[in-house]
Amino acid sequence: MRLLVTGGAGFIGANFVHATVRERPDVRVTVLDALTYAGTRESLAPVDDDIRLVAGDITDAELVGTLVAEADAVVHFAAETHVDNALADPEPFVRSNVVGTFTVLEAVRHASTSKAVRLHHVSTDEVYGDLPLDSPERFTDATPYNPSSPYSATKAAADMLVRAWVRSYRVAATLSNCSNNYGPYQHVEKFIPRQITNVLTGRRPKLYGSGANVRDWIHVDDHNSAVWHILERGETGRTYLIGADGEQDNLTVLRTILRLMGRAPDDFDHVTDRAGHDLRYAIDPAPLRDELGWKPEHTDFETGLRETIDWYRANESWWGPIKDAVESRYAEREG
Ligand code: NAD
Ligand code: DAU
Repeated sequence: MRLLVTGGAGFIGANFVHATVRERPDVRVTVLDALTYAGTRESLAPVDDDIRLVAGDITDAELVGTLVAEADAVVHFAAETHVDNALADPEPFVRSNVVGTFTVLEAVRHASTSKAVRLHHVSTDEVYGDLPLDSPERFTDATPYNPSSPYSATKAAADMLVRAWVRSYRVAATLSNCSNNYGPYQHVEKFIPRQITNVLTGRRPKLYGSGANVRDWIHVDDHNSAVWHILERGETGRTYLIGADGEQDNLTVLRTILRLMGRAPDDFDHVTDRAGHDLRYAIDPAPLRDELGWKPEHTDFETGLRETIDWYRANESWWGPIKDAVESRYAEREG
């Protein structure tokens, strides 16, 4: 199989490419990535000799058209992904997430007139908005879209484009909406790596508001094994929700990090809350498990967190050069 992976130099995409090279020697991977602030060649260094990396933008119709024409399948990860950045400047989110997905869809539509091209579009549970803190309710594929932030609104728009291209043009696409990922190679702007690297650099971790907000954590390798399940066994036009029953409130996650790193439980600062901060995400992954036979493997969150801490400890050369600049930007927001 010739597989085009957009956004393959980012957090989830790079882990996806590593796993694919490791486990599927029959797959020839091409990565298309604009190498924005969030994507680096270094994240693909371990598989340098096994893949082709094309530095380019998913809004470049000619380039995307050429690469899709050479592929049997496309997994579309490329996006602007950080909610705080979207609140500060939504424009790149509209461009990459909406126009970029439109460009990928058009390339797949045109290539599909002469051969079969399979598309999997990677999305987020944030398109469903949020849930109350004290309810057993979880997101399903029937939950109405209700995005809260500029980031989730652009992902919701992209999802709608994919659905319309399936219905109107019979593009052979599936969609997935996953909960919060953690693991190696995640940018230090995100919650878990930010706090780990704050401790490693002698800074105090920063908690938005009271820390009562709940996220449904999943190890990145489990997200990616689910994507492969959907790519191989999913039904065209279907949306699959990916989650691993990993609900935790932010304060609990932070205190676990502090304990695993030998710090006192209150060794952190409360900082200004995020505008419009979603309260709780929770996924019901039953159809993925029951219909496609997918099962997460990294279900012990504390073990996954310990391994993630070890990875950041051992890979300061990957995150060290950008840490100060990320914290300076946060300091402007957090006061
Ligand atoms: P990331 O920010 O770490 O990586 C995104 C990658 O996309 C980067 O390599 C970046 O250079 C590339 N990119 C951005 N704009 C581009 C453009 N215009 N053209 C080409 N490349 C571009 O993001 P991530 O956390 O790895 O997320 C990957 C996908 O998974 C996104 O679609 C995101 O919405 C989705 N997702 C993420 C999570 C999560 O917890 N991180 C959960 C569910 C879904
Ligand atoms: O749910 C899936 C989504 O998860 C993805 O679609 C997004 O791309 C991804 O970034 C993530 O979004 P969140 O906004 O949930 O993740 P973030 O890591 O930014 O924050 C997680 C929680 O931690 C959130 O409630 C905000 C809080 N937080 C975040 C930071 C950076 C803090 O308390 N302190 C922080 O310093």
